[in-house]
This record gives sequence, structure tokens and C-alpha cells, in this order.
Amino acid sequence: MPYALEDEFGDIIGKARRGLGLSVADVAGRVGVTSVDVEKMEDYTLTPDQATISRLAALLALEEDRLGAIAREEWEPEPCDYAAGADIAIERFLVEEYNANVYLLLNGKTDTAVLIDAGGLGEAVAERVRQAGVRLLAILNTHGHGDHTEAASTIRRRTGADMYLHAADVSLVKGDVGGELRVLPGEDSLALEGFDVEIVPTPGHTAGSVTYVIGSAAFPGDTLFAGSMGRCSLTYADMLQTIRERILTLPAATKLLPGHGPATTVREERVHNPYFG
Ligand SMILES: [Fe+2]
Repeated sequence: MPYALEDEFGDIIGKARRGLGLSVADVAGRVGVTSVDVEKMEDYTLTPDQATISRLAALLALEEDRLGAIAREEWEPEPCDYAAGADIAIERFLVEEYNANVYLLLNGKTDTAVLIDAGGLGEAVAERVRQAGVRLLAILNTHGHGDHTEAASTIRRRTGADMYLHAADVSLVKGDVGGELRVLPGEDSLALEGFDVEIVPTPGHTAGSVTYVIGSAAFPGDTLFAGSMGRCSLTYADMLQTIRERILTLPAATKLLPGHGPATTVREERVHNPYFG
């Protein structure tokens, strides 16, 4: 089976290197390898020995044992059940084109649903909503990138759902999203029938990235991946601090269902994510 994580060793060191403003040559010189070696590591074609991993980790402020475990493909998060509480089931749709996740949350008591992101499979999602006999109340977007919004118009035309996004990401949304966008309220929560949605602003990947917390599940979009984090478009140190303070402080058992890659938990990320050692 291919390694399930969204980000591999090469992605992790590349993001840290760029985040810290270091060139390939800087890293090579300070770690004692060639620039070609660093490029190969970031290209997934070279897995260095642990001594080199340790020097890289020290330079890039990553936790060396965690980084080594991912480099050797020894760690993956435990599979978790897809539910946000007794009444709320979660179905994951994998959009293969972007390896992106779309999550449909179904409340069996109220026969209502919400969708986290709309990156693709619009017809399949709309069909599932119809078949389940639920009302899709809203698409809750974690951020405004195209691989999370592309299917919005299809889904909204078929279901009539609203679409919510943080104000700071509205300008990122391109093309037709099937109607007006609703800007997330300034408050920290949104009450939809059958869903109490906590809105946690987590800027970094984009200025308007948010993490939605619904029951025992949280949806960080591209802010955090299992064992890694999303590409940073703001200040790297601020993004690390935001994740540490606003996501890793959630209850340990909270499931984290990211925009790409497998599900994880706050507990797993506290122990295994090399950025947060
Ligand atoms: Fe993104």
C-alpha cells in the first residue's frame, strides 16, 4: 500500500526550509550535504540516514524522532470512526484529482446535513444528499482555494445549500459558485439546524482559513495535515503558533479531518507531528 500521508519527509523539510527563509544551498552547507542531495530529499528520491535527519531537524526546528519516523514511513495515524457525535455521521468523499477531501455530515435526528468544502464530486455528493433524504443546509468552506470550491455550483444548484466562507478568503474564490457567498459571522459559532458549528480562525495557509469544530470532530482544511501542515502564505512562525494554540489545545480525542490526506486526532498530532515537538 502506498504511504497514506498527504505530506512526505520531502514536503515537510521543504515547507520548514521555505518557512524559515533558507535556500537549498543554506541547508546543504549547514547540514553537511550537497545541494543536489537536498533537492533529492525534497523530491522524494533520497531518504537520508538518521544522523543527517537529526542535523536537518535541528536546523529546521523539527522534532528529529518524529521526522525520522515519517522519513522511514513508520508512522501513520490510527484509523478513526467517522462520526462527530451520537447523531452525526460523517461521510468522506475523496476527490482523486486533487487528493482532496469533502466531508458530508448527516444528522439522523433532524434529517439535515452540512458539507465541509466542495472540491469535486458534485454530482455524487448531491445524489447522496438526495438518497439520504436530508436537507443540505450549508457548504462550510475551510478556505477559498479552487480545489475546495470547484463543485460548489453543482451541489448548490441541486440542493439549494448556502455557502459560507471567511471574509478574508472571498477574493480567492474564482468562477461560479452557484450563488451568493455568505461571509462567516464575526462570532465564534454558527447555529444550523442539527449542527452547532464552532468557528476557529486559523490563518496561515490563507488569510481566511478557518477550522470548524462540530461535536467531537474538527475540520482544519489545509491548515494541518496528519504529521504535517499546509503550505504557508502568511508568516511561518505565526502559522505554527496558531496551530499550537488553536488546534492542538482542543480535547485530545478530537478527530481532525483535514482537507487532504487521512484523518488523525489531536492526541496523535501532539505526539507525532514533527513541527510541534
Ligand atoms: Fe488550500
